Amino acid sequence: MKFHPSTPIQNSFSDKHAIVTHHGNCLDLLKQVPDEAFQLVVTSPPYNIGKAYERRLKLDDYVEQQAAVIKECVRALSPHGSICWQVGNYVDNGAIIPLDTVLYPIFSSLGLKMRNRIIWHFEHGLHCKNRFSGRYETVCWFTKGDEYTFNLDSVRVPQKYPGKKHFKGPKAGQYSSNPLGKNPGDIWVIPNVKSNHVEKTVHPCQFPVELVERLVLSLTDENDWVFDPFMGVGSSLVAAIRHGRRGAGCDIMSEYLTIARKRIEMQLSGKLKTRPMDRPVYDPKAAGNALTVSPWAKPAATAHQLKLLETRRRYSVK
Ligand SMILES: C[S@@+](CC[C@H](N)C(=O)[O-])C[C@H]1O[C@@H](n2cnc3c(N)ncnc32)[C@H](O)[C@@H]1O
Repeated sequence: MKFHPSTPIQNSFSDKHAIVTHHGNCLDLLKQVPDEAFQLVVTSPPYNIGKAYERRLKLDDYVEQQAAVIKECVRALSPHGSICWQVGNYVDNGAIIPLDTVLYPIFSSLGLKMRNRIIWHFEHGLHCKNRFSGRYETVCWFTKGDEYTFNLDSVRVPQKYPGKKHFKGPKAGQYSSNPLGKNPGDIWVIPNVKSNHVEKTVHPCQFPVELVERLVLSLTDENDWVFDPFMGVGSSLVAAIRHGRRGAGCDIMSEYLTIARKRIEMQLSGKLKTRPMDRPVYDPKAAGNALTVSPWAKPAATAHQLKLLETRRRYSVK
């Protein structure tokens, strides 16, 4: 699907629309959606950890609320479709409860099958004092049926050893790796959206557009509907529109909705900057960043000094 800068952003759902952002509870928008309309539901729900946009609930009440949304999403999901629920931990008095373990039974009781539990690893976050700092969250990918869209070739990544050849058998001497690249696997190293990330807005927990792009490309085809019930500042819709998919989402906070619409408009006019999917993770040491030298450590000996020391040692010069 080709989008134009003037493609309208609608408030209500209709299959005739292409972009829908709804201000309000996702269950209200879901009521307007016919059965099996969405190819992909991708979201990062509230984690019930007391962010500005959520009221901290008892875990059982939180799970009940999530179950109501998940049930509706499953109803609105195509038989060939996928649901990707991206979650971290609920923290209770210093004890962590991984939300994927708590929510998994809801998906399985609705007949969904888990295809991957993707570990999303990132480098930045809170520094813990009484446990190791959390540096991953998960994306739980479920399908409604056994026949589902999975376009692996569209998300392959460069091989580690593209020049490797078969060394025996009928293919000896031929290149052994797929020229389109390798399967990205189920551990995704993608920077999270913190301080100086190009996508950072006022939202406290955006997920990066490149994370959703990989899901959109592999789990949907052009023109399909992508839905995010808790869309925040619209990262899922940006990823969908960028790749010619239709996008629908909701948020209860008008502040985030305004930013989501602005970002979608910028995407439509080709002005939205996001971190590209194929950019390697920044390595400050390899980049020679001066801040990687610790001022409190003894300065490292130069090659010349090391040679001098070695000569002295060899000839026992004191
Ligand atoms: C973890 S954030 C999602 C951020 C989003 N992935 C992004 O990149 O901007 C969860 C969002 O859900 C919204 N929210 C909470 N309860 C909601 C509900 N019942 N219906 C719709 N949105 C809700 C919050 O306002 C918050 O922006």
